[in-house]
Amino acid sequence: MFDVHCHILPGIDDGSKDVQMSLEMLRRESEQGIEGVIFTPHFYAAQNDPQTFLERRDKALHELESHLGELDNPPRHLVGAEVHYFRGMSRAEDLEKLCIGRSDYILIEMPFRDWQPVFIDEIEEISTVLGLHVIIAHIERYMDQDKKLVRRLVDNPNHLIQCNAEFFIEKKTASKAVKFLKKGKIDLLGSDSHNLDERRPNLSEALSIIEKVDKKGALDHIERMSRTVFEQAL
Ligand SMILES: [Fe+2]
Repeated sequence: MFDVHCHILPGIDDGSKDVQMSLEMLRRESEQGIEGVIFTPHFYAAQNDPQTFLERRDKALHELESHLGELDNPPRHLVGAEVHYFRGMSRAEDLEKLCIGRSDYILIEMPFRDWQPVFIDEIEEISTVLGLHVIIAHIERYMDQDKKLVRRLVDNPNHLIQCNAEFFIEKKTASKAVKFLKKGKIDLLGSDSHNLDERRPNLSEALSIIEKVDKKGALDHIERMSRTVFEQAL
């Protein structure tokens, strides 16, 4: 399994504070049997242009890579970004530079304010105009949005839907997560881990829940999709 969404790169966003924390997070990923991790620091267009963001990301990556030898068996890794929605993103120059590795998969975080149809139009145009493959980050955070708009996003075959491990782990959302899984709506899982405490690497906890309830090969689907994304990005 691959963790397709996490904030393990040191000192670049509200995730890992320093290299030591990043190394411990990676150690926990490999302890949980995670084969590869995609580092997806937050990208906010209002704070950085893509070029500046990429320079900061490279710096954090090199710093971490220079210490990876301290781990016995580090998971493989790639870089991407968690791109926060912004108006006009489907026409933004350099958007494709924020894709995961060499792939055309882009992880997008939708707005938390009330959704408007134009938000969904914009996301659809990222596929239809730019030809990128959209991955919607942590879909469970948008369950209170306009149902019709959520359905438009989720049911679009051009989109991959990612949910966080905590959707399955948290008691108050677990049954909703299982329902969603059984409907075949989940393509990818991420830890979205930020630290070693309340937002720690936790994919294996969700995987063991999914294993117990899965009858229709949903786990295989998630495994296969995560491998596809990772391998296309190499
Ligand atoms: Fe995230």
